[in-house]
This record gives sequence, structure tokens and C-alpha cells, in this order.
Amino acid sequence: MASSSLTPTPFTDDQVLAARRQFADRNPASRRHYDDARRHLPGGHTRTVLTHPPFPLTFVAGEGATLTDADGHLYLDFLGDYTAGLFGHSERRVLDPVIAALGHNVSVGGIHPAEAQLAGLMCERFGIDRVRFTNSGTEANLLAITTALQATGRPTVMAFHGGYHGGVLYFATGAAPWNAPYDFVLAPYNDAASTVALIEEHGPNLAAVIVEPMLGSGGCVPADPGFLATTFAAARAGGAVCIADEVMTSRHGRQGLVRLMGAEADITTFGKYIGGGFSFGAFGGRADLLDQFDTSPEAGRAQAGQRVIAHAGTFNNNVATMTAGCAVLGQVFTAEVAEAHTARGDELRSAVAAVLARHPLPVSVSGYGSMMALHALPAPPATVADLAGRDNELQELLFLGLLSRGIYTAARGMVNLGLAHTDDQLAALLDALDDTLTDLASA
Ligand SMILES: Cc1ncc(COP(=O)(O)O)c(C=O)c1O
Repeated sequence: MASSSLTPTPFTDDQVLAARRQFADRNPASRRHYDDARRHLPGGHTRTVLTHPPFPLTFVAGEGATLTDADGHLYLDFLGDYTAGLFGHSERRVLDPVIAALGHNVSVGGIHPAEAQLAGLMCERFGIDRVRFTNSGTEANLLAITTALQATGRPTVMAFHGGYHGGVLYFATGAAPWNAPYDFVLAPYNDAASTVALIEEHGPNLAAVIVEPMLGSGGCVPADPGFLATTFAAARAGGAVCIADEVMTSRHGRQGLVRLMGAEADITTFGKYIGGGFSFGAFGGRADLLDQFDTSPEAGRAQAGQRVIAHAGTFNNNVATMTAGCAVLGQVFTAEVAEAHTARGDELRSAVAAVLARHPLPVSVSGYGSMMALHALPAPPATVADLAGRDNELQELLFLGLLSRGIYTAARGMVNLGLAHTDDQLAALLDALDDTLTDLASA
């Protein structure tokens, strides 16, 4: 965190334009790829989050924690595909079993043994009764909400300002107009008293509360101690289902961030790294909620007049993802490894904060464990409203400055520690940050 005697923000559009020009001059091949892509892809992309001015880099190769772009520059990958790329780009313990499995079948159109194996690993690891697979975190959240709506017969879903649960569950600046047409009510993140009041107000209509234990896209803002537990207790008291979105944060500790914060959800959603780099999503939790999906003759729910939800999806149990997931949870990212990785992330964030404290610029770091975000703000944001105060010029100059020094992060400041990063690579990140801030402070 930067000190309180900060220089006023001296950065101008001209400096930003000059940094963008330098970036463009350095990356002509990425520019050509971008121009080509725009002929058929609106905006030249299919993931809005990857774009930034003047254009995003095109990557052609990866090895360990490094990426090579189309112009031949080598980067240390500190984005880790927004937490999905936890293992780097060449983790043989994940890739080899996938390649072997694909030698037998690519797409089965039936049951594959790895599906039940991964379900078992997930239930055991995350302390849930049942789980179902999807292709993305977005789908997992849509289905978790559906599960709650069906179970309660109620219409309303509480989400939080600044939350992100997928492309059509987007609450960065209020509920996006393109969101899935649920009856949403929005509460202020990290404000337990207002949240409880809203839960009580919507009581008999409230089917579910969906919350991230740390706002991920919303700037790595962790929940305050007690906020989750208080929110979940109030929701449960009113008969609503508590949904924890751990699509990003299940990597923390042995069982994910909600448990580390002393709370427990009724349904948890998963995604990102568990698929080992392949498309993945899952939702799981209490048997009485998830068993609505039990269409088996043994359960005989339909015959007994109980509610049954049909849930299909061509690639829900695809061979590559199921096999990769088994390797991830079974061998590579065990509970012990996850715990150690969280501690290593905390150490890295402290080291980043120490670098920031040496410079008279309003830059701070927030986060938890192996996920963090750099903010052009004098102090880490306590909630999403604080992000509005970011110095946009400084934020962009920081991002472009790190890129020019071979460090790939998110344009919005996200930095993720992966398993493949060596201690030398962490030192290189800290040096590049120090150098970038020195340059900016003298500009
Ligand atoms: C907390 C959270 N939930 C859900 C999602 C959506 O996951 P996906 O991109 O796999 O649809 C994301 C993606 O960034 C996320 O961060």
C-alpha cells in the first residue's frame, strides 16, 4: 500500500497516448492479427475482458509460466488466464493423461468413467454432497440459481454490486441490461447491515443469495470477516438458498475461500482451473437441492410427484475436461498443495505491497492468497464503489509499463500466482514493478 504523502496524480492523456504508440510500434504482428480478426469477430475478440487499447497481444506459444507473442517477445504470465491457467502452459501431469484419454475417445455421447471419478474427487475435496458439471462458470451459476428457484418456488435472487457471475450475470455497475431475466435485487458488498435489511424486506420472495467470497472481476476485494456468515444466516433464516460463487476462489486453502472465512454455502459453483485449461464449470452442494436433478428410476421422484429438473449439455462430461479435472484434484492441486499455494500468494502480495510502499505514487494492492489486483488508488478498495476513484491514466501506464518489461497481467490490474512460477520469476515481477514505478514517479 502506498504511503499517505502521495503526489497528486500527474499523468496525462499525452503520456498514455505515447505509451500506446510505443506498444503499437513494438507489436506489429499482434496488430496485424487484431486487424484480421476484426473482419469476422466484432471487436476482434470473443472475450471482452481480453481487450484493451490500442489492441491486445496475440500469443502463439507458452511454456511453464511464460508466453510468447506473435512478435516473438517472451512474457512472464502473471495473468494465468484469470485464474483458469493455474498450472502454466505445459503441465505434463495434466496434459499427458488428457492426450492418452483422447486416444480412446474424443466425444462419447454416453457415460465416461472419469465423470463419476471427478464428481467423487470434488465432493470429497470441497465437502459437498452432490455435483453436476457444465461447460463454464456462467452456466454453473445459471443452473445454481435455477436449482434454488425450483426448490423454493420463489422468484427473487439477491446479487451484489460489483459482483460477476458470468456474461449474463454481470453486476459491475448495477445489473447489466443484457443479464439473464431473473428478478434480481442488488445489495452492497461488504455491508452486512444493509444486506440483512434487504434480505428481510424481500423475505418471502427471496429464492437465493449469490455471492463471491472475494469480488474477482470486481478488483480482488475480499469479503469482510463476518459479512458472508451474517448474510448466509439471514438468508437461511428467511428460507433462501445460499449460493457461493467460488469459480475463481475455490483455489484458496483446502476447501475454498468461503470455508476459510468460516461460512458454508448450500450450493457452491466452480470453474476455471479445475478443468486444467479445458472448458469447465460445476455446481454442487446439499443433496436435497441437487437431487432435484435425479431422474433415475431408483429415486422414482417423478412417480412420487416430486420435482425433477432436466439438465443436459452436450459437452458437460467431455473426455478432455473430465480427465484433466481428475488429474488436477487427484494429483496436482491436492488440498495440501492448495494450502501451500495460498500461503505463497499471501507472501507475494506482501512483497508487492512493500515495493509499492517505496514509491510516492497512489498504487495499492488487494487480494487474497494467490489472487491479487494492483489499483491506481492510494489504499486498497474496501468495496467496488472505491474503484471509481482509480486514476485511469496511471492504471493504464502501469499495465503498459509492466508489459514493456515482459510482465503480462490484466489491463485492470489483476495478478495471479501460478504453480509454475519460480522464485526467480517472482523476483522478476517485483523488479519490473519497482522499475515501472520509478519511471512513472520521475515522469
Ligand atoms: C466469480 C466468477 N464467476 C463466474 C465466472 C464465469 O465463468 P466462465 O467465464 O467460465 O463462464 C467468472 C469468470 O471470470 C468469475 O470470475
